[in-house]
Amino acid sequence: MPVTDKYFMALAAVRKICCIGAGYVGGPTMAVIADRCPEIEVTVVDLNAARIAAWNSLDLAQLPIYEPGLDAVLQRARGRNLHFSTDVDQAIAAADMVFLSVNTPTKTRGVGAGQASDLRWIEACTRQVAAAAKGHTIVVEKSTLPVRTAETIQAILAAAQVGEDKSFAVLSNPEFLAEGTAINDLENPDRVLIGGNDAAALNALAEIYEHWVPTVKILRTNLWSSELSKLTANAFLAQRISSINSIAALCEATGADVKEVAKAIGSDSRIGNRFLQSGPGYGGSCFQKDILNLVYLCGYYGLAEVASYWQQVVQLNNWQQQRIARLVVQKLFNTVNGKRIAMLGFAFKANTNDTRESPAIRIAKELLEEGAQLAIHDPKVNPDQISKDLAQPPGLDMAADVHGGWSMAPSPLEACIGADAVIVVTEWQQYFHLDWQAIYAVMRKPAWLFDTRAIADGKAALAAGMQVWTVGEG
Ligand code: NAD
Ligand code: UGA
Repeated sequence: MPVTDKYFMALAAVRKICCIGAGYVGGPTMAVIADRCPEIEVTVVDLNAARIAAWNSLDLAQLPIYEPGLDAVLQRARGRNLHFSTDVDQAIAAADMVFLSVNTPTKTRGVGAGQASDLRWIEACTRQVAAAAKGHTIVVEKSTLPVRTAETIQAILAAAQVGEDKSFAVLSNPEFLAEGTAINDLENPDRVLIGGNDAAALNALAEIYEHWVPTVKILRTNLWSSELSKLTANAFLAQRISSINSIAALCEATGADVKEVAKAIGSDSRIGNRFLQSGPGYGGSCFQKDILNLVYLCGYYGLAEVASYWQQVVQLNNWQQQRIARLVVQKLFNTVNGKRIAMLGFAFKANTNDTRESPAIRIAKELLEEGAQLAIHDPKVNPDQISKDLAQPPGLDMAADVHGGWSMAPSPLEACIGADAVIVVTEWQQYFHLDWQAIYAVMRKPAWLFDTRAIADGKAALAAGMQVWTVGEG
């Protein structure tokens, strides 16, 4: 098709979308777009054939990610106008609009290691779009990217246009969904952000969202503001968590209660009451990597003071996780060697099976290092994932006096049998109302509850005979 024909079709309306990356963002985001725009054919592609097979599974319990409400959306759209495929080239060639939704983790080696984003997957899929696209294609950055990445994408696409019957427009459209509430966040977003300077492309993308999002909530900015807003939003959210966790430690030392402090300050409408829940430190795939990326960018642009300001948010978070692990050891008479400890929750937050950067990992590793025997319960995380995260298979370590072991428990009560302590790490609903009398009865005494989320019924646990430590309670 000549460039001009497809260009004018793109102006009229987007008919075919390709999304590269069938992960936590690509899958749910495209499912909602397909659900709300039945006239658009949406194909989500990925190099990972097992992941695509799981997305195509008839058994919805086998979907690659657990997200409340996702199954219902998929049931409506999958096979109708939502498809999952490994044929990346074909989906790109057919598309008017291609979303890049691939992973952008922190670099582990080379320049910027430990801070900068690793952009190899973004570059690889951009090159694939450059090669496989036909006619006019709108390329949308959905991944979270360092500010000015669009420049790289434009340069690669521009080189591919020379002498070819193809053209491109590049937009930034960062995603703000949170795991566990992704479907609601996508269906009722606070805002949709679109950055770019190609008016036709901006309109085409805005028109898709206008199927269900009020126009006033669709914000348009230049490319760089859009890219930087995403990093900034995550940095501000994470900063609130580090702020409240720093105050939690002070509450514990002074007799104040962080929940009361959070309520008191959150009632000030200038501060607001959300994201003030003290806990074991933030986890998840993005907060840490995005702040580190911000730190790297500030350093790159010569803003050393700004870099160290944001670096402190990450440091406080690491400290909070380490502080909790050490406190457990200290309360258990300064040794956990050979002791059974029940760990309730392994996901980085409730309502997801995602364990990336979960506080549970660092806390578990510190306790394993001390020789503890962990009995882990989580309603959605599977043992294979925990084996990878802890870099050791389940089972009691033969050399238990130097390094601990772990096993999976089928229920919170079974995790606690013979345990000296139970640590609540994830705020799963079922941990709010545990039967503390039954738990106390099966534990070794003195029995401890360490509630890192301040969600358990501490009074009931105390009444049952447990010793109780709750984050932020003096
Ligand atoms: P993910 O790791 O779950 O998924 C990324 C997928 O991209 C993987 O399945 C991988 O196989 C695939 N992929 C990588 N390179 C490819 C290529 N060249 N061709 C085809 N497939 C390829 O990651 P995610 O959690 O979905 O995050 C994706 C991006 O969205 C990241 O930049 C992240 O920062 C951002 N983000 C994530 C969230 C979240 O809640 N997870 C929220 C907002 C933004
Ligand atoms: C976060 C942001 O909330 C999303 O807007 C963003 O799109 C996403 O990162 C991303 O870019 O990946 P997510 O990490 O999925 O979403 O989940 P959050 O609800 O933000 O929780 C992150 C971590 O902070 C969790 O470990 C959670 O337990 C912790 N948290 C959250 C607290 O400790 N206290 C709070 O008050 C809130």
